[in-house]
Amino acid sequence: MEKLVSSWYNVVQPLPETYIFPLDARPGKLSTAPSISNYSIPVIDLGSQGHDRDQIIQQILEASQEFGFFQVINHGIPEVLLNDAMDVFKEFFELPPEDKEASIYSDDPNKVCKLLTSSVNYDREAVHLWRDVLKHPCHPLEKFMPLWPKQPIKYRENVGKCSTQVRKVALNILELISEGLRLGSEYFNDELSQETQLVVNYYPPCPDPSLTLGITKHCDPQLITILLQGDVSGLQVFKDGEWIDVEPLPHGLVVNIGYQLQIISNGKLKCAEHRAVTNSSNARMSAAFFITPSPDCYIEPAATLINASNPQVYKRFQYKEFSANYFMKQGNTEVVLEAFKL
Ligand code: OGA
Ligand code: NI
Repeated sequence: MEKLVSSWYNVVQPLPETYIFPLDARPGKLSTAPSISNYSIPVIDLGSQGHDRDQIIQQILEASQEFGFFQVINHGIPEVLLNDAMDVFKEFFELPPEDKEASIYSDDPNKVCKLLTSSVNYDREAVHLWRDVLKHPCHPLEKFMPLWPKQPIKYRENVGKCSTQVRKVALNILELISEGLRLGSEYFNDELSQETQLVVNYYPPCPDPSLTLGITKHCDPQLITILLQGDVSGLQVFKDGEWIDVEPLPHGLVVNIGYQLQIISNGKLKCAEHRAVTNSSNARMSAAFFITPSPDCYIEPAATLINASNPQVYKRFQYKEFSANYFMKQGNTEVVLEAFKL
């Protein structure tokens, strides 16, 4: 596990060559002040669904069409629960290297719970990413929790509580979206949202943030993503030729549309390219909860969203075909959708 960047970043200077991106992929000049942009990612208050439900639905649809991203506040998850989860993630990555690995118990040859550095493509990628990753499924809890890290001691309890609540918020947002698209309120239940996959990203302080990235530009392959990004900025969304910072909001959740939601909505909702930049002073952490279809689930544009002025854009396929192709194409946003277009 000596490869984990969190285990060696503080003894290696300068930035190793294998982390230096080609000029055109570098983040460029990064200011420490919030960016001055024409755009900012919409913030939606979920607290008043009782009386403003239609208005909230409209806000979600508009943000999903224009940005593919929004943040939600007053989502109902107690702050202490989000803090407790972020605390154990941080503690996990700060464990001594041997303990990090030892903490991940698995008797499954396919290792349900994984700790890795950079990406699953480490051995074939041209440049490595300045991050470590802990990933595991969260739902159903009883099935997967026994495979989660055993340390820190509170990991399972804190992450279990948090993931249950985050999933509830995600399903609530999916319900609002499906109502807004007039698909009925249960369209995304069952197979389309069967799994919750958690990816915890840890970006240690970086010797030269202008040369490297924490995550290169990509769109998320799943249905919808809920991201906790703590209080250190770094997430950027691409829109109209510029990278927009997603400013951390205390206890806000970042929500973004995945490829499957773009496909099911026949392109009405958009997934947006995003990336994570690093910084030289603070470690940054994010926890992405990906609501994911079952592997065998069939994905296709909803019939009611196809008509003469909106002809069908995507084919019908099984989700596992999409994820295999995404892996093979290394998430390259120029090409991952090609095989699924009509
Ligand atoms: C991801 C992702 C962004 C971040 O994990 O897919 O986009 O801010 N993360 O870490
Ligand atoms: Ni992402």
